[in-house]
Amino acid sequence: MKGEHLTQFLIHEQRKSPAATGEFTLLLSDVATACKAIAHAVNRGALAGHLGVAGSENVQGEVQKKLDVISNDLFIRSLEWTGHLAGMASEENDQVIPIPSGYPRGKYLICFDPLDGSSNIDVNISVGTIFSILRAPDGVTQPSEQDFLQPGTQQVAAGFCVYGPSTVMVLTTGSGVNGFTLDRDVGEFILTHPNLRIPADTAEFAINMSNRRYWEEPVRRYVDECVQGKDGVREKNFNMRWVASMVAEVYRILTRGGIFLYPFDTRDPSKGGRLRLMYEANPMSFIVEQAGGLASTGRERIMEIQPHSIHQRVPVILGSKNEVERVVSYHG
Ligand code: AHG
Ligand code: MN
Ligand code: MN
Repeated sequence: MKGEHLTQFLIHEQRKSPAATGEFTLLLSDVATACKAIAHAVNRGALAGHLGVAGSENVQGEVQKKLDVISNDLFIRSLEWTGHLAGMASEENDQVIPIPSGYPRGKYLICFDPLDGSSNIDVNISVGTIFSILRAPDGVTQPSEQDFLQPGTQQVAAGFCVYGPSTVMVLTTGSGVNGFTLDRDVGEFILTHPNLRIPADTAEFAINMSNRRYWEEPVRRYVDECVQGKDGVREKNFNMRWVASMVAEVYRILTRGGIFLYPFDTRDPSKGGRLRLMYEANPMSFIVEQAGGLASTGRERIMEIQPHSIHQRVPVILGSKNEVERVVSYHG
């Protein structure tokens, strides 16, 4: 119900499944607490000396920003003690993150991108946190990387929080998608965007055009046809956006439709794409499909990919159903 706060919403959902123990509700509520802490750190920005680079690189050889490191620490510290998780995997950590000895283990695994859109931090453009929740295999209390390598169809929940003009949390537990706006005065996420649905048609696309010469032919054809607008085969004009924060692009698509592409490109063919399957592609695909959209690599449904490593990258094409289907058909 619009206006209820996140905990209320989660408990109402929990009551619909009589077998639920409440552990899952508590886990999501702890994730929300982590996001509030990160929202605060992002918002303080230069006042707290949070901008700029950390002077380190992550496992993927990317320069870490101070806020990447701060957000990662806040996320881990907010969740490691709760007893709801068996382990965590972060974009910023080489290995899976164990639960420290002394804390109880739970039955869930979480994969997360603590701060998405790092290139936008210093220029004050929206960034966010993305997470994906899986079940730990039966009996596993000290998960290895192997235990995390489950296809996206196995996710029990996924969500993201975008730190923009408002801080908004978007969540799916597999029955639709809901959006909650952070009310800083009361410190709660309030359900402001119930049952988000992505329109099947759109006239807005998002892609980093500077990579055009590295794309494969089907993507080049699709984008060229959009750019030709009324004068081309599509016979309608398209608009383009590129925020360079996936959280902001997906939120826009949930709000007014659109298609987002970070396709395979030939800059480094061994990478298979720019975005990470476990921290970005899977959770966003779950959300987009739950809102009536589609998510594909161009050749297969993202959520059906069997992961081979936690830091694996994949091509991502997601959003309004009819446009994604068109791009997939061009890969035919
Ligand atoms: P991250 O900051 O977690 O590394 O992710 C940034 C991602 C994604 O959010 C965005 O769509 C894309 O990288 C931007 O890439 P380009 O800079 O190549 O446009
Ligand atoms: Mn990211
Ligand atoms: Mn990141």
